[in-house]
Amino acid sequence: MVSETRLHPDDFIAPLFVREGIDEPQPIESLPGQFQHSRASLRQEVRQLKDLGVPAVVLFGVPEHKDAEGSEAWNPDGIVQVALGDLRDDHGDDMVLIADLCVDEYTDHGHCGVLDHSGQPDNDATLELYEQIAVAQATAGADIVAPSGMMDGQVFAIREALDDAGFDETAILAYAAKYATALYGPFRDAVDVTITGGGDRKGYQQDVANAREAMEEIREDIAEGADMVMVKPALPYLDVIARARAEVDIPIAAYHVSGEYAMVHAAAERGWLELDAVAFEHTLAIKRAGADLILTYFARRLSELMQ
Ligand code: PBG
Repeated sequence: MVSETRLHPDDFIAPLFVREGIDEPQPIESLPGQFQHSRASLRQEVRQLKDLGVPAVVLFGVPEHKDAEGSEAWNPDGIVQVALGDLRDDHGDDMVLIADLCVDEYTDHGHCGVLDHSGQPDNDATLELYEQIAVAQATAGADIVAPSGMMDGQVFAIREALDDAGFDETAILAYAAKYATALYGPFRDAVDVTITGGGDRKGYQQDVANAREAMEEIREDIAEGADMVMVKPALPYLDVIARARAEVDIPIAAYHVSGEYAMVHAAAERGWLELDAVAFEHTLAIKRAGADLILTYFARRLSELMQ
């Protein structure tokens, strides 16, 4: 009766992986219960999520061929584009389709942009690629594109490209405060990404030590045209979620990332934690801190338990 916060399947966005050229879904070892889906198994998974009341999915693609620019990311026949088409056919307007917009799953070097001479992403050259990806994803049926590469000016560039192509109704969920965390490890297994030369993303993702700077990133993304902003990861950054909630009035999403999910599973496998109870507590805390939407690999399991 006195609960201030309640969870509902509506709060969740399920992150899903779809891999080109496979017939059977491949389990992801470091993300128990998660798969690299085939086109067919993705369709089945999304049908089940919809029946459970989960309103949205975010898609990540694993292409057969990677190159220096990540060109499969904007190929109209690229894996995410064809998967978006499948899901649009299956669900019409009854499922919100979000496409992660980045090139790291598609580049042979694993960075989120095209590289300059020093081996770091060239910010402005990368924006041109993101513009093409946004239009390809919107054309394929994405309701929302979610730029996750943390290039400066990406939201503005994508907004303009979408508007110019007639997609003024396509929304942008900006990964605004995305930290250079150690918690993305299992995700990189899921999408077969290794950053060459032992590199990292500290040049473009947020410094773990900084919260004020994250607020500045959020303000900038909103000024550039973001319709929703994201904080990522979630639990170590509840302070950032709460600050954002106090300052902004557009929807705030939080991404309970692969490492957060994997930790709970690893401890539960040893009998050290109770999986479902911790999954509920994590997601409830993220909502309590101020997130309207939670991207979590627990979306399906928690929604099943809430039926
Ligand atoms: C980049 C991207 C990453 C995640 C989502 N989008 C990885 C990264 O920045 O290295 C991580 C998600 C997770 O760990 O669950 N396209």
